[in-house]
Amino acid sequence: MSEGWTHICDLHDVMPGAGVCALVEGHQVAVFRMADAVFALDNFDPASQANVLSRGLVGDLKGERVVASPLFKHHYSLTTGRCLEDPEKSVHVHRARVLDGGIWVKVGGETVRTTCPYCGVGCGVLARNIKGSVEIAGDPLHPANFGALCSKGYALGETVGLDDRLLHPQINGKKATWDEALDHVSGEFTRIIAEHGPESVAFYVSGQLLTEDYYVANKLMKGYVGTANIDTNSRLCMASTVAGQRRAFGEDAVPTCYEDLQLADLIILVGSNAAWCHPVLFRRISSEKERRPDLKIVVIDPRRTPTCELADLHLPVRAGTDVWLFNGLLAYLQRQGAVDEAFVANHTVGASTALEAAEASAVDEATVAKICGVDVARLTEFYSLFAAHERVVTAFSQGVNQSSAGTDKVNSIINCHLLTGRIGRPGMGPFSLTGQPNAMGGREVGGMANMLAAHMELENPDHRAIVQEFWDSPRIASAGGLKAVDLFEAMGAGRIKAVWIIGTNPVVSMPEADRVRAALERCELVVVSDCVARNDTTAYAHVLLPAATWGEKDGTVTNSERRISRQRSFLDLPGEARPDWWILCEVAKRMGFGSAFDFRSPADIFDEHARLSGAANEGERAFNISGLAGLGPSGYQQLEPVQWPISKPHMRGSERLFEDGRFMHPDGRARFIETPPRGPAHAAGDEFPFVLNTGRIRDQWHTMTRTGRSPRLAENLPEPFVDMHPQDALLTAARDGELARVTTRWGSMVVRVRSSGEIARGTVFVPMHWNDCNASQARVGALVNAVVDGISGEPEFKHTPARVEPFPVEWYGFLLTRRNSSSPEVTWWTRINAANCTRYEIAGRELPKSWTVWGRNVLGATDSGADYIEYEDASARSYRAAYIVDGRLEACVYIANRADLPDRDLLSKLFRIEKVEAAHRMALLTTGAVVEGEEPGPLVCSCFAVGRNTIRRAIEEHKLTAVSQVGACLRAGTNCGSCLPEIKALLGGVPKSIPVSTSTALPLIT
Ligand code: SF4
Ligand code: FES
Repeated sequence: MSEGWTHICDLHDVMPGAGVCALVEGHQVAVFRMADAVFALDNFDPASQANVLSRGLVGDLKGERVVASPLFKHHYSLTTGRCLEDPEKSVHVHRARVLDGGIWVKVGGETVRTTCPYCGVGCGVLARNIKGSVEIAGDPLHPANFGALCSKGYALGETVGLDDRLLHPQINGKKATWDEALDHVSGEFTRIIAEHGPESVAFYVSGQLLTEDYYVANKLMKGYVGTANIDTNSRLCMASTVAGQRRAFGEDAVPTCYEDLQLADLIILVGSNAAWCHPVLFRRISSEKERRPDLKIVVIDPRRTPTCELADLHLPVRAGTDVWLFNGLLAYLQRQGAVDEAFVANHTVGASTALEAAEASAVDEATVAKICGVDVARLTEFYSLFAAHERVVTAFSQGVNQSSAGTDKVNSIINCHLLTGRIGRPGMGPFSLTGQPNAMGGREVGGMANMLAAHMELENPDHRAIVQEFWDSPRIASAGGLKAVDLFEAMGAGRIKAVWIIGTNPVVSMPEADRVRAALERCELVVVSDCVARNDTTAYAHVLLPAATWGEKDGTVTNSERRISRQRSFLDLPGEARPDWWILCEVAKRMGFGSAFDFRSPADIFDEHARLSGAANEGERAFNISGLAGLGPSGYQQLEPVQWPISKPHMRGSERLFEDGRFMHPDGRARFIETPPRGPAHAAGDEFPFVLNTGRIRDQWHTMTRTGRSPRLAENLPEPFVDMHPQDALLTAARDGELARVTTRWGSMVVRVRSSGEIARGTVFVPMHWNDCNASQARVGALVNAVVDGISGEPEFKHTPARVEPFPVEWYGFLLTRRNSSSPEVTWWTRINAANCTRYEIAGRELPKSWTVWGRNVLGATDSGADYIEYEDASARSYRAAYIVDGRLEACVYIANRADLPDRDLLSKLFRIEKVEAAHRMALLTTGAVVEGEEPGPLVCSCFAVGRNTIRRAIEEHKLTAVSQVGACLRAGTNCGSCLPEIKALLGGVPKSIPVSTSTALPLIT
């Protein structure tokens, strides 16, 4: 048995249905036997506060294997440790095994090297499971982060609990066995394919799947079902880059690496709030800027995001004008004689036509500046910086991709690098920063509707033959399948009759998301594989399959710089959860494709993937990891992070691509692409005067199913909001801190108004994370137009015409409660996981007849004998109440006719107090200042829980002038650094508003 396992006794020493207590590493562990399965839990029963669990009876209760505490008769799940009677109580579960007739237990855990499951930076993480709680640290040996993590990465340990986990398969809402569920899914897919053909079924998968999961999903669909109707949420994120790189380079290949950001003399960040969306990479850039102050940084973004803190120059271009900007740059470079004539002549095609098109649309700097809405001097400064610096990296992200002209935006950037020959050498090149942890891995296996495996092309018959022969598959998809938006449209039209959604939440994340609901309702079969029991999409599932999640899964991911890293498991699979690759293979086997899906492990799948990348590949395809074939289980287990290609002669990987000037088009030359500019599909106008922009915030990820569990991550920006310029807010009468309705032609939402000073007039920003599970009306996807880029199919998330108007309410309030209860019956609400309780921000349009009756209902104090205290000032429309159970605060509510209410963080601390005293009761109902100390204000530094007011006070009192001084004083900013831009802003480093763009109407797509 491997290190860390302790032999407890022989299996026959424990009677079936009984338990024993063992001391393991000084820790009392209760070990139970049910038939030949063994379980280990802490012996300590939190209900009776005694070490008694080993003496409890074990059995099956409502389908859950449990132990009953011998004193208070609480039941604890043997697989999850959760108390069935009291969701607040749980015990730690330890690993237990039977080996050679003996029972072995492992407490604590070894440190496992794995990879962060969030953004495309792909940071290495050290995870250690110690008696049920997970310790997280950055991996100092991982070349993506060298030990650094951002606030989300550091909080990973807080997100691994089993609350809300889907632990068993379900069919039509009823628990099923795996056999029943797999038979049902395979049987229904087979039936529908037989009746309506392969084009009647689809998979919709995720950039958070591991490469091995993605590989088998794609193989099943394209090689065995025979359709390319498999698309992914990466379509919403990176598809324009894929298309742009394929057009320019002949393959979807990122030429650059992170080191180039440190070697560059000029970094241009376009449509990328790296400070929030790629924080560790941003820190790497800022450290380099500190070391080399003459490193120039230009940020091109309609918003003054925290990334601008680092910028020598910020160009707040009007949304959707990037192609004009880069066409103007291309023409400028030509005029200035900055062309690398030899590179253009020897390694490219199409320069003159691309230049003609650029010159036609960007006649001179003054014209471009006017269209882009920026000052001509600043625009020219940017152009001259580009011309003057050989080592230039242009990094771009969703602000470029998520546009109906996204592919042209990507190519307009690449054109400038090709014209100057600044590609394939250290410190230079176009660099797409990937949004998701494994968007790149998904592309490698062809997990998109318009790609084939191993970067081969669906439309190329030779490539189809290579793949089909390699897979020995009965058929192969012969044409591109439906891309995400078209795929859901086909469901709505009844053409797609069965869909399997894996690891993503399209009812929240897709544009025109209400239509996605309608589309799912129309399907005969909706299968959802997910780790959570409930999200906005699971509600539409006929079959729910419990998938393993981060910490439990084993496989590989590829980050933005083509670096393949291992995600390793360090937690046991809970309940009946299984890895996605296993679920897919089991369904494939039941559909009759057994031998092709007879994989025993992710290592087997990776091996096949690596071999396929080398099939008939004598350098024709850049993606080649055949050097990783034949690793075997132990080689795979020990695989170090490595950048593809990994093949002869680059067996140790490759930092950069195209170093020899040879590109992947058959003639070896890169292509200049003509990019005639066009504006967004829908222009703002009288009815919808603002441009709605959507995106991420610093401390949340996607639809919050993981990050939303962490109280720390909830503190910085706890609620959905609309950020707008103060003057726009004034003109629309939407007041900062109050509620407003944001409406587009496609939907509406109600959110809090925020005037951060980051946004230009005419544009509003709404984060993408909130959904119907944590807020009443905050699914921004429902508002976004489903217009897509004609080539990439990527939706225009950054530009939807919108209207903002006040949402008047009679009262504002908040509720703090120990119970994570169902949504309160009020006009508007948001649920937030706080440190000691659950917090609801609430507001109402109706005044209750009696606040007492309302308050008792909301707090759950309906019993007339309940310890319920309250205060009401009817004239001020102010109501406060608290419910106390066994001397502890159970819940409290604060209502007022205005939005500025007492400090929630201070009040939530009362939930830690074991005995509420008279002074606390009085304070709860009068001042609201119930605990000593000054209000820290909204959290700025998640790592050290330092609030804005605390930082402001320290700056004032100690006359602090630098972030390092704030760090020395409060520790804020000294860990992950995600909060440094905000601290710098508080020190006065960032102006509170940005220049107002002059208005120029943009041409619509015709
Ligand atoms: S930057 Fe943060 S979210 Fe991204 S991979 Fe690193 S730790 Fe994870
Ligand atoms: S948020 Fe990590 S150091 Fe401040």
